[in-house]
Amino acid sequence: MITTDQIQTVRQTRRADPTLSWGLVPTMGALHEGHLSLVRCARAQNDRVAASIFVNPTQFAPTEDLATYPRDLAGDLAKLKAEGVDLVFTPTEAVMYPPGFQTTVTLSQVTKPLEGAARPTHFQGVATVVAKLFNIVQPTRAYFGQKDAQQTVVIRRLIHDLNFNVEMVVCPIVREADGLALSSRNAYLDENQRPAATVLHRALLAAKAAFEAGERDAEQVRRIMRQTIAAEPPARIEYVSAAEAAALVEVQQISGPTLLSMAVFFGKTRLIDNMLIND
Ligand code: PAF
Repeated sequence: MITTDQIQTVRQTRRADPTLSWGLVPTMGALHEGHLSLVRCARAQNDRVAASIFVNPTQFAPTEDLATYPRDLAGDLAKLKAEGVDLVFTPTEAVMYPPGFQTTVTLSQVTKPLEGAARPTHFQGVATVVAKLFNIVQPTRAYFGQKDAQQTVVIRRLIHDLNFNVEMVVCPIVREADGLALSSRNAYLDENQRPAATVLHRALLAAKAAFEAGERDAEQVRRIMRQTIAAEPPARIEYVSAAEAAALVEVQQISGPTLLSMAVFFGKTRLIDNMLIND
């Protein structure tokens, strides 16, 4: 496994045999089974697999957890090696954002609701760093988790709008046995918050069950999710949504593919979860 913080080394490795397909798994490290499921999918579908580990500062607001975001480079590299990854790109901030850097990628609509409403600068940071990673690695395919549902919508749009020659693959959410979606931020939950945090998945299941029983009124579905979450006192809702799955605009009636999603605080820890229905 080649590990490098140099763009030049990535380019040389990628170009050594242009006939080979490459899968890219972009990450911010602190790798868990969710990330490894993306690596395994990339491993199965490509001749070579690259991963990147970069805690991208431009997608964190000044008030967010950049300084305390979990980091474990040695552990991450051991996990990637065990999965048979060929190349790991671990750039420094100076490599990605050298002095004079001033170009950003902005999407005008799909970045605005949901996560974007709470985190107005987040997706500009994500879109910019993902565009840079695509240009540096030039992967055949790139792998993202459904856990960050809006991010997948943003990146699909980015690939289409800027004509990146990359096939996007979205892999399912990986959950703990009790339903909690895997996230690097779960590590922040204390012993009271951790069991309560299963309420995100329970709310999604309750909403799905209502839909399957014939409920089509989206406000009623949102109410079911809010009520389920409100029954767990440590949980504080930031948003609960039932939105059209591609444009991410809230719907009144559930008639097409619909993304149920939410962001919920447990103390200072902000968790997100989602489920596609009527897909
Ligand atoms: O999903 C993430 O971990 C990040 O947003 C990504 C795609 C690696 C960009 O920094």
